[in-house]
Formats: sequence, structure tokens, C-alpha cells
Amino acid sequence: MPSMKALVKIIAAVMPVAAAALEHTSTTAQIRLAYHGNDGMTVSWNTLKHVKHPKVHWGLSEDNLNNTASSDVSVTYPTSTTFNNHVLISGLAPDTTYYYLPSPLSVKCKDARRRPYSFTTSRRTGDQASLSVAVAVDLGTMGSLGLSTTAGNGVSPNNVLKPGEKNTIDSLTSSLSGYQFLWHPGDIAYADYWLKEEIQGYLPNTTIEEGYRVYESILNEFYDEMMAVTATRPYMVGPGNHEANCDNGGTTDKAHNITYNSSICFPGQTNFTGYKNHFRMPSDVSGGTGNFWYSFDNGLVHFIQLDTETDLGHGFIGPDEAGGSGGIGADPVNATMDAQTTWLKADLAAVDRTKTPWIVVAGHRPLYLSHANDSTFCSACHDIFEPLFVEFDVDLYLSGHAHVYERLAPLGLNGTVDPAELNNPTSPWYITNGAAGHYDGLDSLQSPRNPYSRFGLDTHDAVYGWSRLTFHNSTHLTHEFVASNNNTVLDSATLYKAHG
Ligand SMILES: *[C@@H]1O[C@H](CO)[C@@H](O)[C@H](O)[C@H]1NC(C)=O
Ligand SMILES: *[C@@H]1O[C@H](CO)[C@@H](O)[C@H](O)[C@H]1NC(C)=O
Ligand SMILES: *[C@@H]1O[C@H](CO)[C@@H](O)[C@H](O)[C@H]1NC(C)=O
Ligand SMILES: *[C@@H]1O[C@H](CO)[C@@H](O)[C@H](O)[C@H]1NC(C)=O
Ligand SMILES: *[C@@H]1O[C@H](CO)[C@@H](O)[C@H](O)[C@H]1NC(C)=O
Ligand SMILES: *[C@@H]1O[C@H](CO)[C@@H](O)[C@H](O)[C@H]1NC(C)=O
Ligand SMILES: *[C@@H]1O[C@H](CO)[C@@H](O)[C@H](O)[C@H]1NC(C)=O
Ligand SMILES: *[C@@H]1O[C@H](CO)[C@@H](O)[C@H](O)[C@H]1NC(C)=O
Ligand SMILES: *[C@@H]1O[C@H](CO)[C@@H](O)[C@H](O)[C@H]1NC(C)=O
Ligand SMILES: *[C@@H]1O[C@H](CO)[C@@H](O)[C@H](O)[C@H]1NC(C)=O
Ligand SMILES: [Fe+2]
Repeated sequence: MPSMKALVKIIAAVMPVAAAALEHTSTTAQIRLAYHGNDGMTVSWNTLKHVKHPKVHWGLSEDNLNNTASSDVSVTYPTSTTFNNHVLISGLAPDTTYYYLPSPLSVKCKDARRRPYSFTTSRRTGDQASLSVAVAVDLGTMGSLGLSTTAGNGVSPNNVLKPGEKNTIDSLTSSLSGYQFLWHPGDIAYADYWLKEEIQGYLPNTTIEEGYRVYESILNEFYDEMMAVTATRPYMVGPGNHEANCDNGGTTDKAHNITYNSSICFPGQTNFTGYKNHFRMPSDVSGGTGNFWYSFDNGLVHFIQLDTETDLGHGFIGPDEAGGSGGIGADPVNATMDAQTTWLKADLAAVDRTKTPWIVVAGHRPLYLSHANDSTFCSACHDIFEPLFVEFDVDLYLSGHAHVYERLAPLGLNGTVDPAELNNPTSPWYITNGAAGHYDGLDSLQSPRNPYSRFGLDTHDAVYGWSRLTFHNSTHLTHEFVASNNNTVLDSATLYKAHG
């Protein structure tokens, strides 16, 4: 007779989802918010079981949640250990604080509390009040499954956390009052590092067949860690390469002379499956596509999230698509020819600059950086997006992907420095900040840096951090690099745009 444990193992081979759910007990609710227009908020959270009608109780005061919003959206995918519930609360007043509590929360949640959370809706489009936003890119799981005070073989000892060092999630949590929402344009959780972390001896070894459990536990852990921010601040996300695959786009085990590729991946770990399930970005109210490209207004700013990973159109293969540079093989997400740039052009053309003088765009990969010309860039993105940025006077393009911080000058077509610099340039300003921190630390900028570089931090500086944007009014925007370990601003620059 097989023991109960062996039986579970056998079942696991046949029914991985059910078995994984059995063993998965540590998750909290992973509560996360997303703007939906100026008058809506999407509340998303995870449960261990399918929920027929997920509900959110909400109201204007903490002790009177007298309204209920509900949906029938409780979705999962093969190998997931949880269900993603999404409920839209609509008809809210802009710039108003509400209290809410999702229901049900899984009984095993460490955080199945009865005290409501709160959120504040987006400012009305055209509200010219000063606005601050936090931006983090390439932010992975912290702690024993990701970035901590130790790492495996091959990670620069300079890039692990010092004992007691505050990480970027700590910093964002302690700075909550200083920003309206958190923007994360790609590379979320780094669950696909599970194999690398095992090969490097950081995580206990599993088998390839059981790897999805480690992958899913990293995802769950990350979203739980982020709840300190995302249950009270909208969390607007974009796609990065690490959302598309299970094995870091090809992981080599030198000791055993094996190079893994996407053929080891379970369906739930490919094609941005977890990412598609986990979020509901406001593309339905901005004409975009899923969580991949969309836009939203908040007060005096029009924000645009782009997809540098797939769907570049114009005959280009996206870096994460089959045949792309990433070795990932994801499918495009929109079958319409040139859907993304057609949408981008129409979206930019529709902006009323008297209401939203500022246009800020984010995409995962940089168009410019002091770095060798390799897949760090999305060269095709440069070709398809830059002309539109210039034509429609985009103020700022934010990116990550390279795990460095670099602030550039405003740049005209093909990287020519705008002679006005930050004093009313006619070209977009470029900032890459992929230094939020994840398991294997930071990357290098080339030395010397390109002539268009104005400030940089890389692996030698060993500082993790995030960006704070402050739109003071219609003419002044300050970008700050905030060091996560002590919330100190290590770089600050203010852009002046006359805007008409
Ligand atoms: C909930 O209470 C508020 C007052 O706090 C009231 O204005 C509102 O109409 C109530 N909503 C419902 C659905 O009863
Ligand atoms: C795990 O596998 C790696 C390489 O495949 C090997 O170097 C390491 O020793 C293994 N660790 C354990 C605990 O078996
Ligand atoms: C590693 O494997 C490849 C085939 O996958 C083989 O050609 C090569 O000789 C092997 N190298 C070593 C050092 O075993
Ligand atoms: C993955 O590697 C295997 C073995 O080397 C090879 O047969 C297969 O074609 C590769 N698959 C992909 C998608 O690259
Ligand atoms: C694909 O893009 C078209 C054109 O922008 C849009 O109408 C359509 O809704 C998009 N499809 C999906 C699945 O989002
Ligand atoms: C992505 O999905 C398509 C089917 O929609 C499949 O053909 C392809 O193999 C998947 N990619 C990966 C890497 O699994
Ligand atoms: C970078 O490389 C791509 C092809 O990989 C090429 O199309 C592009 O022109 C190069 N850019 C520069 C600035 O050399
Ligand atoms: C930018 O570079 C592209 C490709 O190298 C070229 O076709 C185009 O003419 C250049 N534009 C300017 C303004 O230099
Ligand atoms: C806009 O904000 C900047 C920075 O705070 C300030 O110097 C400037 O005077 C403001 N402009 C107006 C018109 O208030
Ligand atoms: C904060 O941390 C940064 C990065 O480690 C360091 O350069 C700076 O001196 C620190 N500032 C203070 C006030 O401790
Ligand atoms: Fe990336």
C-alpha cells in the first residue's frame, strides 16, 4: 500500500493543480487595485478556491461599507495554486477616499482581517493639482525566494542586501503618503528565476516536473509582499520579458552541461498566462489590449503603458515572440495588424493638452541607454515608437529591463541631444530605472557613458531604488531617484515645459 504521502505524489503527477492547491497554505490575499477611469477602481485578489461571485463591500467610511460590487470573474490556469478574482467598482467620485473589503478572503490567509482597506480614486482629468507617482521596474520577490542577504553562486556579493538593509518594497511601503499610485512597467516577481536559483544552490533543488510549484510560490509570495502597497495604492503594470516564460529565457546548468529552453515550461508559465490572469488594467476604457497597452488620465497627466515585448507590428518580431531575441516564444496578444502603433497614434492624437499638459509613456525596454547595442534595447520599438513620441510631444519615456539607473538628456530623432536640455525641450526625455532589485542584483552601464547620459548608477554603486515623479503644475516635472535603503534622493532633475 502506498503511504498517503506517496499517494499525493502520484496524484500530483496526474493532477498537478489539485495537489498543488492542497499543499499551498501560506498565501495571503494578494490584494491589488487598479484605476478604471476617474470614477472606477478594480479590486483584484486571490483565493485558494474558485469564487462564484466575488464581492467587494465598500463605502465612504470605515464603519459603513454599505455598498457591494460583485462580478463572476474568478479565473485560474493550469498549474496555478490560486484563483484571481476581479471586481470593478464603478460610479465613484474622482479624488475621493473609499473603504473596502473583498469577500471572500481565503480562510488560510494570514491577513484575513475584518478591518477595511482604503483607496483614493484618480483625480478628474484636467485637475491641475500637484501629483506624485512612484515608478518601479524590474522589481522581484524579496526574502528567501528572491533578493536577500545571501545569493547563490554567480551573483555579485556586492549586490545582495546588507544585514538589515531596507529593500524597495520596504521603501515604497514607508513612503506611501508620498505618491498616488505605483507604476510597474514590467519584470514582476521574477518567478522564472526559480530554476536559476536552484542551479545556483540558493533554493533547494526540485525536479523540472515539480518546478512549477516553486514558480507559483514565488509569484504568490511576491504579490503578498506587495500588498502593503497595492491594497491601498493603485498598481498599474506593464508586460516584461520575465512575465512570459518559466526559465529565465534559457537557463544553463554548467555543472551538468544542460541548457534549458521553453520546452520545459508548463502551459501556465508561458505566454504571459499568469500576468493575464492576475491583472485587469483599464484597456477596455482606453481602447488598448488587455494588460499589454492602455492609457489613463490622472489630474494633469496622461499616462500610457506600452508593450515592448510583443505586437510591435510593421513586420517586426517582438523580443519575446517566437524567433525573437529572448528565446521565449510567446504569442502576439492582438491579431489586428499594427494594432499597437495604430492605437498609440490615435491615443496620442486624442489628448487634450489643455487638460493633461503632461504625457508620460512607459515601456519595459529602453530606446536609449549607455549600453552595448544588444537585446537590452528594443530596437524595433525605437523605430516604431520614437517618431510618434516626437510628433506628439511626449514629455517623458520611462523604462527598465537593464538593471541600472540612467537619466538621459531629452533626445531628438536617433539620439540627438536636444540643445535646450531640460529647459523647454522639443524632444522627449528618457529615463531608465531598472534598479528596483531582484534575486541577481544589478547590471553595468558602459564606460564611458554615451554623450547623452546625464546621471547613472549601476552594479558598482550597489544601490537599489525607485523613481518618484512630481508634476508640480502644467510646466514643472521633477524626477527623483529614491534609494530604497534610506529613502534618500540620490538624483533629482526638473523638466520645464512651456506647454503651449
Ligand atoms: C451608504 O451610506 C452613505 C452615507 O454614508 C449614503 O450616502 C449612501 O446612499 C448609502 N448607500 C446605500 C446603497 O445605502
Ligand atoms: C542542485 O543542483 C545543482 C546543479 O544542478 C548542484 O550544483 C547542486 O549541488 C544541487 N543542490 C543540491 C542541494 O542537490
Ligand atoms: C555538452 O553537451 C553538448 C551536447 O548538448 C556536447 O556537444 C558537449 O560536448 C558537451 N560538453 C561537455 C563538456 O560535456
Ligand atoms: C529545446 O532544446 C531541445 C533539446 O536541446 C531541442 O530539441 C528543442 O528544439 C528546443 N526547443 C526550443 C523551443 O528551443
Ligand atoms: C486589438 O486591437 C484592436 C485595435 O486597436 C482593438 O479594437 C481590439 O479590441 C484589440 N483586441 C483585443 C483582444 O484587445
Ligand atoms: C504560446 O501559446 C501558443 C498557442 O496559443 C503555443 O503554440 C505556444 O507554444 C505557446 N508558447 C510557449 C512558449 O509555450
Ligand atoms: C542596434 O542593432 C540593431 C539590430 O540588432 C540595428 O537595427 C540598430 O540600427 C542598431 N542601433 C545602433 C544605434 O547601432
Ligand atoms: C534615423 O535613423 C534611421 C535608420 O538608421 C534613418 O532612416 C533616419 O533617416 C534617421 N533620422 C534622422 C532624423 O536622422
Ligand atoms: C510650477 O511649479 C514650479 C516648481 O514648484 C514653480 O517653480 C513654478 O513657479 C510653478 N509655476 C506656476 C505657474 O505656479
Ligand atoms: C543613503 O543611502 C545611499 C545609498 O547607499 C548613500 O549613498 C547615502 O549616503 C545615504 N544617505 C544617508 C543620509 O544616510
Ligand atoms: Fe526585463
